[in-house]
Amino acid sequence: MSEPRLFYQQPGLNTECYEELTAQGGPGVAGDVSYYLRHAQRIGGPVLELGAGTGRVTWALAAAGVEVVGLDLSEAMLERARAKALDLPAAVRERAHFLLGDMSRFDLGRKFWLVIIPFRAFQSLTSPDDQRRALECVARHLHRGGRVIVDLFDPRLDLCLPDAPPDSEPQSVKHPASGHRVVVEIVARTTDPLHQVLTEVWRFKELDDAGSVLRVEDERLTLRWTYRWEMRHLLELTGFEVVAEYSDFHESPPAYGQEQVWIARRS
Ligand SMILES: C[S@@+](CC[C@H](N)C(=O)[O-])C[C@H]1O[C@@H](n2cnc3c(N)ncnc32)[C@H](O)[C@@H]1O
Repeated sequence: MSEPRLFYQQPGLNTECYEELTAQGGPGVAGDVSYYLRHAQRIGGPVLELGAGTGRVTWALAAAGVEVVGLDLSEAMLERARAKALDLPAAVRERAHFLLGDMSRFDLGRKFWLVIIPFRAFQSLTSPDDQRRALECVARHLHRGGRVIVDLFDPRLDLCLPDAPPDSEPQSVKHPASGHRVVVEIVARTTDPLHQVLTEVWRFKELDDAGSVLRVEDERLTLRWTYRWEMRHLLELTGFEVVAEYSDFHESPPAYGQEQVWIARRS
């Protein structure tokens, strides 16, 4: 097998099946779209989404009348986001704009009332310097009093230990174009507790109706875990005042090993 590709960075089974895999749920996404929409409608647009991916959240906001800009590092993900426009009414299409860029180094020359970083995209920043730079960019792009909502997973310490095995079963979805079964499993995992970084190799396999393998693709996912007080201090250091912290999108109180859903105001 060749060297794994970087997660989401090239067209392939991962980007093609992203929406189907995400639709299977999980604490990082359960109820998140309606949550971001509620905040966007209360605060008002324009909204900036960092790590917008295939536009799962972006298009939902645009469809509900919110002007939204989606920034992402992956042209392959943005290609899929833009392709969805073909099926949407002109008024919705005009409310969403997608840009290629790095959330830790961007300057759009305009300000927003709300910045959202859904589904753990912030954890793709694997150094504290990049995390800090990203939040400084967010602060510069917010009006005074504007808000940022960031979702992270709260680290389970057993899964952060060196050699902790993958914590998930293989997933299976139907490919949206071919209709074939696509099986996804984590085949390797390492952790670096000193730097709070985990690396997983995800194997994507497309199978025909007889079960023969048509395509196999490996992608390497690298994420940094961040502890609750570390995140609070990082937000404060970069010019934010924490408004609320929850452990899911139903506004449950903070809880070990669940999500960290942060709402902070630019002070
Ligand atoms: C889990 S997906 C989330 C996509 C979308 N927000 C959603 O909730 O469905 C994470 C996305 O973050 C993007 N990403 C990772 N690092 C990034 C960076 N430094 N700047 C911008 N986007 C980044 C990836 O390309 C990917 O599309």
